[in-house]
Amino acid sequence: MSVKFDISFAKSAKLEGGLAILLKLSGDATAAGASEADPAGIVSRAAEIAKFSGKSMATLDLIAPQGSSLDRLVVLGLGKADALTAYDWIRAGGAAAASVKNVTKVAIYLDAPGATVGASEAAGFALGMLLRAYSFDTYKTKKNDDDDKSSKTVKVTIVTAEHSAAKKAFADSEAIAGGVLLARDLVNLPPNALGPVEFADKAKELEKLGCEVEILTEKEMKKLGMGALLGVAQGSVRPPRLAIMHWKGGKAKEAPVAFIGKGVVFDTGGISIKPGAGMEDMKGDMGGAAAVTGLMHTLAARKAKVNAIGIIGLVENMPDGNAQRPGDIVTTMSGQTIEIINTDAEGRLVLADALYYCNDRFKPRFMINLATLTGAIMVALGNLHAGLFSNDDNLSSQLTGVGNVTGERLWRMPLGKDYDKIIDSKFADMKNTGGRYGGAITAAQLLQRFVGDTPWAHLDIAGTAMNSPSNEINQSWGSGYGVRLLDELVRAHYEG
Ligand code: BES
Ligand code: MN
Ligand code: ZN
Repeated sequence: MSVKFDISFAKSAKLEGGLAILLKLSGDATAAGASEADPAGIVSRAAEIAKFSGKSMATLDLIAPQGSSLDRLVVLGLGKADALTAYDWIRAGGAAAASVKNVTKVAIYLDAPGATVGASEAAGFALGMLLRAYSFDTYKTKKNDDDDKSSKTVKVTIVTAEHSAAKKAFADSEAIAGGVLLARDLVNLPPNALGPVEFADKAKELEKLGCEVEILTEKEMKKLGMGALLGVAQGSVRPPRLAIMHWKGGKAKEAPVAFIGKGVVFDTGGISIKPGAGMEDMKGDMGGAAAVTGLMHTLAARKAKVNAIGIIGLVENMPDGNAQRPGDIVTTMSGQTIEIINTDAEGRLVLADALYYCNDRFKPRFMINLATLTGAIMVALGNLHAGLFSNDDNLSSQLTGVGNVTGERLWRMPLGKDYDKIIDSKFADMKNTGGRYGGAITAAQLLQRFVGDTPWAHLDIAGTAMNSPSNEINQSWGSGYGVRLLDELVRAHYEG
């Protein structure tokens, strides 16, 4: 599917051919919009014959329904009214989008009798449609036979009593979708097209939305003493960049919130080279940086009332005559030294300098970093929860909370002195790996050594940023994980 939805909201729709989608609760006899879209009562008869009860996200698809001018009529189940969450409305939009095929016009009736449908539910539904419509086909020169050949743009009318409020709320949906889809694009792009310089250029484009964007070059980072980040970059012919995105939507004197992303545009492992099988996936090792960039897009696009910093460390990890070696000792910007045990544990080196720089320069209210940091987090949690590590119970519970609201779920993992000891080094202040056991935790312990007393959370998104199971709102390899989560965090707890 490669469609673009042109979405509007109205209190009724003109139906001449095309597709109508009617939402229906389970256990409820009637669907939304029955009087307008189904005056002949086709749905109730069809539902009975098909034993369609309106289970959550189930569809009943009627083609050329008799006695109706419609080409197709789809009933979409919402499940039970009292179990309906904000995320379910987003998923429902995604499920509805999936049934839009070979039509140019769709009317969607939201107001299922018995359901509470306000502006935010309608805007969430529309967001789900925008997210589902995404597909990364930039590099496909031929279309598949089963692709929808009918149209590029589909006109969608969402019919609901709250149509004017919904239209207003939809502006935020567009800002969120813009950020998520940007993050997906960045993750999906091949590594030859997206090096550190090209990624920094993408960050620079946020100036169009009113962000201030600074790009630090290798020379400037050298001057700052970012020996850990530069050590990773030194094996690549493509020079590193540090991008600093600044959105000033809050009060002038208010300290900013800060988001920091691992942006390894490709991770070969370096001299401790990775096995060949599946190495192509390491083009997604900038998923943290992609989420931060997408989030900054969203905050700026919806003019969030907050001061926010986004910092992304952009490097390529390559084996080379000039690459760093196991045994090397690097000095970070903080002054602390790190012994390199394994050059494949590079993300934490990039973040060590990025986190310290952020804290030192901006004195933020909190720092949240996102990183495809360890394979170990996938062993622990699979790819349905990201790992959450934090030095602050309040920030941690806020994050877990918005994770449940957005469906971008988090699971808190432990930190502590005994884990920290594991990365002490014989030759330097610390070493960059702590062995196989608890690999996600020892990685987090290293990061914690660079955040001081600032409230901080580390999200290990190795399992969720890419290659996670597809669902109603995402069918793409790169998921854009983290954008909706952190937008909701800001909206719920740090705005205004
Ligand atoms: N980028 C990888 C982690 C990763 C693996 C992300 C698979 C997504 C999918 C990271 O840089 C890495 O190589 N980590 C090593 C650390 C080890 C050498 C201590 C790992 O997890 O194996
Ligand atoms: Mn690595
Ligand atoms: Zn990596």
